[in-house]
Amino acid sequence: MLFLGHIQPKGTSPMTKSEGVAVAEHWVTVAEAGYLEPGELMYVEVDDEPICLINLDGEIHALNDTCTHEEASLADGTIVGDEIECPLHGGAFYIQTGEAAAMPVVVATEKYAVRTVGDEVQVSVKS
Ligand code: FES
Repeated sequence: MLFLGHIQPKGTSPMTKSEGVAVAEHWVTVAEAGYLEPGELMYVEVDDEPICLINLDGEIHALNDTCTHEEASLADGTIVGDEIECPLHGGAFYIQTGEAAAMPVVVATEKYAVRTVGDEVQVSVKS
């Protein structure tokens, strides 16, 4: 079964400390563990944020889906090695960091925290 955003299991918003300010972690279930095979990616939304969910060598990563060069969905792109290549102009981002990897992309995309709880893959877009 595939989950597409906006599902928050109970007890997934513990308070954490960041620079002396308490902030709530907010984890949202986006997929069933094992749904994405290595080398696969898909589009999901978490708290209205467009997310490109990527399985890179068995590890799930979550990047902001909108290319920082212009308006293109990275979920329509291609995984090449450890990079995601944008479908519009061929720019690329490092999947593990979100940093720009190839022109015309020069600005990093946002990388989000991912965790697996039981058989659910969860993403946190705000901390
Ligand atoms: S829109 Fe992604 S490289 Fe231009």
